[in-house]
Formats: sequence, structure tokens, C-alpha cells
Amino acid sequence: MQKTRFLTGITPSGTPHLGNYAGMIRPAVQASLNPGVESFYFLADYHALIKCQEPERVNRSTLEISASWLAAGLDPARVTFYRQSDVPEIPELTWFLTCVTGKGLLNRAHAYKAAQDKNAEAGRDTDDGVSAGLFMYPVLMGADILAFNAHKVPVGRDQIQHIEMARDMASSFNHLYGEFFTLPEAVIEEAVATLPGLDGRKMSKSYNNTIPVFTPREQLRKLIGGLVTDSRAPGEPKEVEGSALFQIYQAFASLDETAQLRQAYADGIAWGDAKAMLFERIDREIAPLRARYEELMAHPEQVEQALRQGAEKARAHATPLLRELRHAVGLRPLQVAAAAAPAAKAKVGNAAFKQYREADGQFYFKLVDHDGGVLLQSNGFAAPRDAGLMIAQLREQPGQLAALAHAVQVGDGYTADDVQQALQALADAAQK
Ligand code: TRP
Repeated sequence: MQKTRFLTGITPSGTPHLGNYAGMIRPAVQASLNPGVESFYFLADYHALIKCQEPERVNRSTLEISASWLAAGLDPARVTFYRQSDVPEIPELTWFLTCVTGKGLLNRAHAYKAAQDKNAEAGRDTDDGVSAGLFMYPVLMGADILAFNAHKVPVGRDQIQHIEMARDMASSFNHLYGEFFTLPEAVIEEAVATLPGLDGRKMSKSYNNTIPVFTPREQLRKLIGGLVTDSRAPGEPKEVEGSALFQIYQAFASLDETAQLRQAYADGIAWGDAKAMLFERIDREIAPLRARYEELMAHPEQVEQALRQGAEKARAHATPLLRELRHAVGLRPLQVAAAAAPAAKAKVGNAAFKQYREADGQFYFKLVDHDGGVLLQSNGFAAPRDAGLMIAQLREQPGQLAALAHAVQVGDGYTADDVQQALQALADAAQK
């Protein structure tokens, strides 16, 4: 059974805070434990350059965010965890997509329009201070997603439009060049809390009201001490509604614990005591992770190594896909044009699968046409059964070809369309 592939990016332009932890890191680590999913998480450092032109900060934030995810329990052996800029296929795909994306589509992107509106209000030229990077951002994001043919993309509401644009890009490309891309879907986590920050507004680095997740214990206590409350005195009943302290507590506590704090509010708990409860509750969850975080921060080379291994895993998908895409768009080795293409077309009937073992001990298969031309070549599999399963899938569902592009390559002189036709002919023959 094919697993559902989840993919999401985190832009490294700041220090992870409790809102990021409760809203994204913790649920993502949880979700990655589900055996039915395959997860791709990456540091979107090319994206960071759009907003942040401080090299030290991009670098530092990449380390902090990576260390946070690892400390929070993300297992790099289970998921594919990588840095965008370690995957050169992404910028290459960005260009392919750029060329099939209408400029008008990008004109409608919210982030770009917001920048324009702000300029218009201030009486400036509408493109004042708007980089081409900001304008192109949805295409880069489309490439992030499509390079891995992700099915589901967990994002915040503000990103839904970008996923729709990625679908548009995928459709345009598929329409022009063949069915290479799965159309991705946004996943919006309704249940996940957005936490209020120290001033009661949404916790966000742009409001400067954040509590860094892995700030040292005493610093955490101090920051929580500065959380806004109303001016009710000890003994006076307090409202949970609209209380930032209560909302943050809820994101860390069990239902029972939350009910206890609700009661304590009704009984007039002093704000100082409520803050102490909140501090203790958060620290109980964070302290063991903090120790791991500090260790990783002291050993950036371990984080570097995890990311590089992740990039290798990621490229095992992206490299063969881009090889096919280059071919599909016409970036191919030169050959005698008139003869080669039609001849290959005529030969795709009567194709057959061949399974074999190589000297490397791995199991392979290929799809050959009746003249022995290699239409499709698989990567190596550890077990013959895995090769067999993929053959069965291709035979029964020729339409899965694009989705299996990480494991098979179209042979030289053929196109994905040729292979598709050959598979379809096999499937049709099996029907009879
Ligand atoms: N743009 C996203 C954000 O600001 C981050 C991101 C970059 C992303 N590439 C992605 C998210 C691909 C999901 C998929 O939050």
C-alpha cells in the first residue's frame, strides 16, 4: 500500500517559541509516528532569504530550528528531514514551474498584494521594496512540494492559496508534458491551538512577544512572570475566558489539570501562583527536551550530519524525478531527431517486465519493448518481493507511473508517454 506523503517547510528566520512548539513541532512529531504516513520536513532556507538578509541569523536559526525538532523527538531515521538548499533539484524545478506559471497568477498572491496595498496606502510606487523573490515565492514553494510529489501539506491558513497555486502549476505542467505530478492538498489543523504571547496577542516574532521553547529554566520562569493578566487581586475570582495564561496552560496540560486550574481561577488563585503553576507545567514537559537541545546546540556538527543524511534521502526521490522532467521538457542528449523519436514510439507495443539481480546484490527490474529497448529501469531493491510488488502496481495501475518516479527511470530515447502507453497496452491485454 502506498503511504500518504506529508510534506511541510519551516522558514528559518527566528528562534522557535512555545507557539511553534505547540502548534507545529509537537503535532508534527506525533504525526510522524503514524505508520500510514511518510513525512518530509525541511528547513526552507531559500525562503528565508526573501525576508531575512542577515546571514548569521539565517544560519543560527537553521541550527536552532533543526535542533528543536530533533530535541522534540523527530526521528531522522523515520522521516526525511533536510535543508532545502541541500537539494539542488528544487531550484531547478522552480525554473521549470516558473515557465508554466502565469504572471497573472502570481500577481494575485496574497503576500505580494499585501505588500502592494501597503505601498499604495503610503503613496509609494506599488512595487517599492518588493523583491522579485517575494513575487516568485509561490513558485519556489510549489517546487518544494512537487519535487517530492507530496499528497498532503500541513500549513497555516495563510498558506492555503500557495497550495492551490502549486496545484495549478502541477496541472499546467502535467497538461503540457505528461502526468508527472500529484496534485497536493493543504491540511489545516483546526484543533491545534495558536498560543497567545506575553502581551496577549498571538505569539509571533513580529510582535516581539514570544517565549522561546528552549530558553534556560530560570529565563522561562522570568518570562512567564511577565505574562499579561488583569488586575484582579488574590482571592478575587478570575475569568478563564480571554486569559492568555489559561490558554497556554491548556496547550500543555491534561484535561484534568486544566479543570483544576479552571477551578483555581474560580476560587480566586493569585496571579503569581497561577504563573508558578504554568511555569512548572511547561518545564515538566520541556526540561528533558531542553537537555537534548543544549547538547545539540553545543554540537552543530551532529545536526549538520543529520541534515546531510536527510538531503541524501530527499535527493533519492528528487534526482530521478528531475532526470525525467528534464527529458520531458526537451533538455535531452542530442540525437538524430527525425529517426529516433517516431521509431521509439512504434516499438512500445508488446513490452515485457524482466526481473534480475545485479552484482551489488540488489534486485532490479526493467520494462523492455519487443526489440529489447529499455523503456523503464528500476532502482535497486533489497528484496525481490519489493521489485515484484512495484511491477504489479505498474501493471495494474499504469497511471501510478508518475507517483513511482522515485524508483523507476524512463530509458534513453523514450518518454514517459511511451512508457505509459506500453503499460496501458499490458493492462489492456490483461483485461482480455
Ligand atoms: N511558506 C511557508 C511558511 O511561511 C513555509 C514553506 C516553504 C512551506 N515551503 C513550503 C510549507 C512547502 C509547506 C510546503 O509557513
